[in-house]
Amino acid sequence: MVCLGNICRSPLAEGILKHKLGDGYLVDSAGTINYHEGSQPDERSIRTAIKNGIDISNQKSRPISKPDFDRFDLIFCMDKNNYKDVLKLANDSQKHKVRLILSNDQEVPDPYFGGIDGFDQVYKMLDESCEIIAQKIKNNTV
Ligand code: 4NP
Repeated sequence: MVCLGNICRSPLAEGILKHKLGDGYLVDSAGTINYHEGSQPDERSIRTAIKNGIDISNQKSRPISKPDFDRFDLIFCMDKNNYKDVLKLANDSQKHKVRLILSNDQEVPDPYFGGIDGFDQVYKMLDESCEIIAQKIKNNTV
């Protein structure tokens, strides 16, 4: 799961997909920038996850790096800028792994500069998309 800072959106996406998949899957998140490297998720993301029964407080921000394209089968990006930046790091043979997390070219809006409502909205979008992704992964149709 990839966003810009790896402190707001992708930590939520990681927590939600992990929760839906259960054991036996490797789910992680990263950012396209290293500005927040080593930081916990944003307090508002932690609180939003807790409200929904998911603890993401142990996560630490990190930037995406080349080995991620070998370690992971699928790389989901929150918005089109993230998608473009991630594709630039991928070899031609790895580009097929990179997807936008929402269907129909939609984007998960960056909630960083807004209020808590934005985090609730992001949570809902990610919960719906991760439900579909989890079903597809389990059915091998992703
Ligand atoms: P995220 O949100 O990409 O969902 O983690 C942001 C986090 C930090 C910044 C922007 C967006 N920032 O400008 O530092």
